Amino acid sequence: METTEFNKTLESSRLILRRITLDDAEDIFDYAVDAQVSKYTSWEQHRAIEDTHSFIHFTMQKYENNQPSDWGIIEKKTNKLIGACGWVYINENHGRAEIGYVLSRKYWNQGYMSEVVNQILGFGFGELDLNRIEARCFAENTASERVMQKTGMQYEGLLREQMIVKGRKVDIKMYSILKRELPITE
Ligand SMILES: CC(C)(COP(=O)(O)OP(=O)(O)OC[C@H]1O[C@@H](n2cnc3c(N)ncnc32)[C@H](O)[C@@H]1OP(=O)(O)O)[C@@H](O)C(=O)NCCC(=O)NCCS
Repeated sequence: METTEFNKTLESSRLILRRITLDDAEDIFDYAVDAQVSKYTSWEQHRAIEDTHSFIHFTMQKYENNQPSDWGIIEKKTNKLIGACGWVYINENHGRAEIGYVLSRKYWNQGYMSEVVNQILGFGFGELDLNRIEARCFAENTASERVMQKTGMQYEGLLREQMIVKGRKVDIKMYSILKRELPITE
């Protein structure tokens, strides 16, 4: 049986999404050490490069096991890794998946993550033939919510205290988009 490649390389006008390697450690550490970047994430701020190495090993292990994982986000004009995005999970029985994303603070508010999400939605609904793609954010994470809105996702509701993160009970907003709703962007 043919294996599905969940993290094949994707390209958009300004960005490339590709598999993460150990050579990306410094670029990843650079944003993951920033407390503002991890303010609304379920993962802890990285304190040492070893935290980044653990993340990369975890990510690479999933590639090896043919499991859905993260991509590194590469800015074409600098060839620098500026963030990561990927599948939180894929449930093939239900044609359903969840995505997550993070970007280095220097690159915020230039439309980069919306470009990334559009790319993943096209791939997920196209090649992977998914029917529903979800994204969740902390209720107060306006920038992340805005990315969901800009990429055509619909608000489905507030999941009250759905997570306990860094010792805090967190309200989560749930967004999703169905294959038949995918806007034609290009
Ligand atoms: C969320 C995140 C990925 C967004 O990436 P980005 O490339 O800046 O996103 P975009 O530029 O495509 O869109 C951001 C939108 O949010 C808006 N925005 C940003 N900060 C905002 C704020 N504090 N209040 C209101 N709107 C805000 C921007 O104006 C923009 O909307 P617009 O295009 O309508 O003006 C980035 O902020 C990030 O990495 N944050 C930290 C990690 C994180 O929270 N990840 C998501 C976990 S669910």
